[in-house]
Amino acid sequence: MNVSSGILGASGPLRAPPVATGDDLIFAAEDHSAPKPPVHSEPGWKVAVVDDDESVRAITRLALGGLKVDGRPLDLLEASSAEEGIALFALHPDIALGLIDMVMEAPTAGLKLISAVRDEQGNHKTRLVVRTGQPGNLPEDRVIRDYDINDYREKTELLAQKLRTVAHSAIRSFRDIATIEHAFHDIVDLLAQVVDEKVAEQFPHAVAASMLAAHLARLAGFPATRVELLRHASTLHDIGLMGLPKRIREALLKFEVLEGAERDSLREHPLVGARLLQRLNTAEGRLAATLAREHHERWDGRGYPVGLRGDAISVESRLLAVANVMDAFLSPQPGRASHGPLELRAYLADERGRELDPDMVDLALLHLDALLVTRSEALSTAT
Ligand SMILES: [Fe+2]
Repeated sequence: MNVSSGILGASGPLRAPPVATGDDLIFAAEDHSAPKPPVHSEPGWKVAVVDDDESVRAITRLALGGLKVDGRPLDLLEASSAEEGIALFALHPDIALGLIDMVMEAPTAGLKLISAVRDEQGNHKTRLVVRTGQPGNLPEDRVIRDYDINDYREKTELLAQKLRTVAHSAIRSFRDIATIEHAFHDIVDLLAQVVDEKVAEQFPHAVAASMLAAHLARLAGFPATRVELLRHASTLHDIGLMGLPKRIREALLKFEVLEGAERDSLREHPLVGARLLQRLNTAEGRLAATLAREHHERWDGRGYPVGLRGDAISVESRLLAVANVMDAFLSPQPGRASHGPLELRAYLADERGRELDPDMVDLALLHLDALLVTRSEALSTAT
């Protein structure tokens, strides 16, 4: 993979003037010098420049050289094809801004990259600006409407100062999204703790289960962004328990077996939770709603509330089901002795293909020791 990294500031090795002074300079200069590694110590904002034209990448380096946003410099990461770009984004889920060429190895290579970043990698935070040299190829309206991009510009339009302005405002918007997301996660964590403590009295059950689910997702080959999404979204899967009548919540705390109308009522908590969570109209909210709805479904179709079977249950919910079983099985409960890893192994093998997805169980059994370490760490940091 021909991916280079580096920011060229005023001291960079470019032969052209280090700071672009006029719009006419841009896209006229040629420079083939290799980028140098970053010389600054502050963490930079990662900016990906994906373009098959080396001169455009060089001009971009020149135009953005020395730019700082909130006092932090930029780290330019470069790729020269959609394929390389996709790998670059997978490696760096924290890229603030991507400047994406539309026409590379194929006329719509840029769109392929955007779909991969947004849909496959689940990255909705990175700001994406599409740059095209052939504006007539795809109508701007259609591209903006059908793809989750933040701007669509002709290359000739993004001259030195304009490019700096676009980059500056896109990075600030990335920063704001990250701040809001951070605050949102704090609220979600707090809420998860309330659900755990006040309803299930199993704190930190939600934390342990979500850490286990994230670890399993990593083992299953999920990209980093989707792992993080799952970790946060899964902490609220039992929030529907808060809507249950007090008598049932008390029974749950004592691990009583419920029957009749009370059992029916308990079985509504996935839908109650999903209804609450789908009001959060974000990728995380949608996943959280799916997890709430499906976390008591079973691989063999004998779960609730719908009785979904096999692949009809989302892969995230199937991972969470394994994580939940592992944590619940190892947690102390009144009336029975604590279970250990050996018993857990036997239990998982038993539920393989019944309650749980056989592939996920195989993954859990293969990496059981590492997963148990993750659970212990989650329990010790949460308490
Ligand atoms: Fe539940």
